[in-house]
Amino acid sequence: MCGIVGYVGPDPCAEILLDGLRRLEYRGYDSAGMALIEGTESKILRSQGKLTNLARLLSEHRPTGTTGIGHTRWATHGRPTEINAHPHKYGKVSVVHNGIIENHAMLRAELESNGHKFSSETDTEIVAHLVDDEVKAGRSPKDAVLGALRRVEGAYAICVLVDGAPDQIIAARHDAPLILGIGSGENFVASDVPAILNRTRDMVFLEEKELAVVRADGVEVMDLDGKPVDRKPQRILWDAMMAEKGGHKHFMLKEIHEQPRAVTDTIRDRISAKTAETFIDGFEIEIEKLRRVVFVACGTSYHAALVGKFLVEGLARVPVEVDLGSEFRYRDPLVSDSDLLVTISQSGETADTLAALREAKRKGARVLSICNVVGSTIARESDGVLYTHAGPEIGVASTKAFTTQLAALVLLAIYLGRRTGALDQESAHELIKDLLALPEQMKEVLDRGASVDVIARRYATARDFLYLGRGINYPIALEGALKLKEISYIHAEGYPAGEMKHGPIALIDENLPVVIIAPRGSGYEKIINNLTEVRAREGKVIAIASRGDNEIGSMVDDVIQVPDVRPELQPLLTVLPLQMLAYRVADIRGTDVDQPRNLAKSVTVE
Ligand code: F6R
Repeated sequence: MCGIVGYVGPDPCAEILLDGLRRLEYRGYDSAGMALIEGTESKILRSQGKLTNLARLLSEHRPTGTTGIGHTRWATHGRPTEINAHPHKYGKVSVVHNGIIENHAMLRAELESNGHKFSSETDTEIVAHLVDDEVKAGRSPKDAVLGALRRVEGAYAICVLVDGAPDQIIAARHDAPLILGIGSGENFVASDVPAILNRTRDMVFLEEKELAVVRADGVEVMDLDGKPVDRKPQRILWDAMMAEKGGHKHFMLKEIHEQPRAVTDTIRDRISAKTAETFIDGFEIEIEKLRRVVFVACGTSYHAALVGKFLVEGLARVPVEVDLGSEFRYRDPLVSDSDLLVTISQSGETADTLAALREAKRKGARVLSICNVVGSTIARESDGVLYTHAGPEIGVASTKAFTTQLAALVLLAIYLGRRTGALDQESAHELIKDLLALPEQMKEVLDRGASVDVIARRYATARDFLYLGRGINYPIALEGALKLKEISYIHAEGYPAGEMKHGPIALIDENLPVVIIAPRGSGYEKIINNLTEVRAREGKVIAIASRGDNEIGSMVDDVIQVPDVRPELQPLLTVLPLQMLAYRVADIRGTDVDQPRNLAKSVTVE
């Protein structure tokens, strides 16, 4: 989704901004631009498409300004054209914006009736017009932005430059993340930490409805009434190197291989092998009061939530409901203070999940979040956070965030199971022992990627794929299908295998590869029946099976084996070949694996 970088300091900043925007490329975008102060006025450079186009413009114009704002845009209002790219300049005011101005149509009509002429189709341009009116009325840049924002409804992270005030950027946020980077004699603004992490580790996370005046020698933070707020910088400890490809062709491939380490980091320090208990970072759940757990998430994180239902109901015998953020927030959900709402989000900024969290809190539920990005909005607004510690996930298609979410859910289910009494100490001991052994088994699966390669080559030209799973592996079928479609653009559907005969069986013919997740465990015989039904209709079957299952090979076209583990832990292994299959198919087809078309890493609009 859109990215913002800003700089005020002693150095010419075009390259600094471009470098920051490159580090945000992973969020997805379709045009880019910057505004740089030259003398006392800002000059705008913008281009459609990738940052290389903007880089070309910079090398032609050679701007020297030392105050500037840059932006990568992911189109929401208005097509992905140069004219709709940010910054938008009107009069003396240049603006970049992430989010959506909801009352833009009304404001635009009003401004047009007062003689304003618009040059783009965007909601963002409204802000430039409103601020410029305030500047013309004699207000300082800060007061002009405060005045304009009083009229704006919706979500925004904005940065504003005003001609005649070359030494400052005005930055503000509401429902979209924005951080300030504190340097020495220079300061930064960004929508996400990796953009400026190579420049400073000291960051101020702006809170909801806050504004900052950013100058080279300091930053002033205030609320939207102009009342000063004291915000101390936080030191970011993770390394910028963690956000580099480290010799892999794509971030996604690097992140797939990081999973054993990432899962170790999720579970480490949260387990007592002695008492067979797990800890969720100081968050205590009042078990006597707890009637229900409600998981809310989107996309891949929603698939983790579906696995979470099996885990929590199975190990703790607490009823669980799972919902999508976009559905939950609009259906006046029945939640109360006896519910625990658990949001799951890699980015911690997903608008629908955040809105669901706020709705549940309003209705009295306590909120625990399973989240990867430290200091993100969801993390900050939750009563407790179980950080997954996966490290920065740059590839748009989520991989290590997913398996670490699964590991965190196992921890949560053990925590609850020990407290409800449904999980006795001995069983918990066994489960924890198996969980601790899992990263090594994940590594084994990843090290045997060659078999996936052969399969990927065979089916890379297929038009459709079907993924089938049962029980705890049904969400893995959904996840396998999602991974394939988002990066290879092949149509893929995930289905609970038992539902096949109620519809999808009509799709099966000799051209349809069907991936069947069939590890040993309860439901194994049933899924073998489904497999035979596919074969009887000449579908091509790729099975994900347990090591040691020597029978399945004769019934299918291809088998990928994974270590034989207890059902609760199977998803952490069965998903790995599916991630690799999606990756290899996409790479063979030559798609943009890390930044697939139309997708954004962090979906901060609904
Ligand atoms: C798919 C993917 C998305 C995200 C979804 C939620 O690979 O990455 O489906 O899972 O947009 O994002 P988070 O987890 O950041 O809330």
